[in-house]
Amino acid sequence: AQAQETIKVGLILPLTGPFTAIGRQVEMGARLYMQQKGNTVSGKTLELLVKDDGGVADATKRTAQDLIVNEKVNVLAGFGLTPLALATAPLATQAKVPQVVMAAGTATITEASPFITRTSFTLPQATEPMADWAAKNGIKKVVTLVSDYGPGIDSEKAFSGVFTKAGGQVENLRVPLANPDFSPFLQKVADAKPDALFVFVPAGQGAQFMKQFVERGFDKSGIKLIGPGDVTDDEVLNGMGDAALGAITTHHYSVAHDSPENKAFVEAFKKANPNMRPNFMAVGGYDGMHLIYEGLKKTNGQGGQALIDAMKGMSWTSPRGPVSIDPQTRDIVQNIYVRKVERKDGELYNVEFATIPNVKDPVKAAK
Ligand code: DHB
Repeated sequence: AQAQETIKVGLILPLTGPFTAIGRQVEMGARLYMQQKGNTVSGKTLELLVKDDGGVADATKRTAQDLIVNEKVNVLAGFGLTPLALATAPLATQAKVPQVVMAAGTATITEASPFITRTSFTLPQATEPMADWAAKNGIKKVVTLVSDYGPGIDSEKAFSGVFTKAGGQVENLRVPLANPDFSPFLQKVADAKPDALFVFVPAGQGAQFMKQFVERGFDKSGIKLIGPGDVTDDEVLNGMGDAALGAITTHHYSVAHDSPENKAFVEAFKKANPNMRPNFMAVGGYDGMHLIYEGLKKTNGQGGQALIDAMKGMSWTSPRGPVSIDPQTRDIVQNIYVRKVERKDGELYNVEFATIPNVKDPVKAAK
C-alpha cells in the first residue's frame, strides 16, 4: 500500500456563539505554530481542518464523527469547553484517534479516553496554590463563586478542600454557565462579608463579571478578588480598568511571563493578529500543535496508538515555562504562578511573583 502523504488534523472549536473568544485564541495559537514551523512533518503535508461547533456538545460530536469517517483525520484537537471534550472522547477511543485537548480544564477529561492528552491545564492544578496563598496571607473567610459545571465545580472543591484544611472558612455559590447574571450572587457575597471572593468563570466571561463587580461597588469594599487566572484572562484584562488592580490569581500562563520563549511568542502572535493579545488559550493551541508535530516526528508520521504513545513523556519549553506530558495520565505537568494585577506602561498585566514548579493534576496524583 502507498504511504499516506497527508496528515490531517481536525481542529474543532467554538468560533461562533458565546464562547467565540476561546475558540479564536486557540485557533490563532495553533495557526501561529504552523506558520512558524511550516506544514511539512516527517516528509508529509500536515493539513489543518478548522471546524466551528458553536460551543454545543452535540455539534462537536457530530463534527468529530464526520472528520473521522469522511476526512479520515489522524488527530482531533481543540475542545474549548469541558462538555465538548467529553462528548468526543468515546469517538476517539472507538476510532483510535488521538484527541489533543487544548482548552478545557476539568480534571477527569483525560480519564474519558486512553487517546486523550492535554496541553491546557486542570482547574485543581491551577487552584490548589491559590488556597495555599490565601491561607498564608491573612485570609480567613472566603466565598467561592463558580460557573456551575465541570471546571467550576473542580475549582470550588480544590479551593475549599485545601483552604478549610488550613483552618479557613468557606461558603460556596454557583452561577449558571450560560448568560450569567452575577448580581444576585454578589448580593449574597456582600451580606457574607468575606475577606476574599474566589471566582472561576471561563475565559472571556471575566469582563461581564468585573462589570457587575464594579457596579455593586466591590472594588471599594475591601473584599479581595482571588481565583484561578481565568477571571483575569489576558485578552479581557485590559478592558477591566483599575477595578482589577490588586487581584491575586494562580495560573499557568501570563502574557507578562518573563522568558525569551514568551517574548518571542507574544511578539509573533501580535504581529500575526494586530488587534489581539494572546491569553492562556492561545498558548494551549500553540503547545498542542507542538505536541502533535513532535509526536509525528517520533512516529515518522504514523497516527493512532503509536502517536498517542509517542506523546507520553514528551517535554519542552513552552511560552508558559517548562512543561511535560505525564506518561501515566497523559495530562500536562507545568509550573503554576502566583500573580497580581498591576499596571505597566499603561496596560494591565497579571504579574507573576511566585512559582510552584512542575505541578501535576492533584486529583489524579491522589489516586
Ligand atoms: C474551561 C473553559 C474555559 O474557558 C476556561 O477558562 C477554563 C475551563 C472548560 O470548560 O473546561
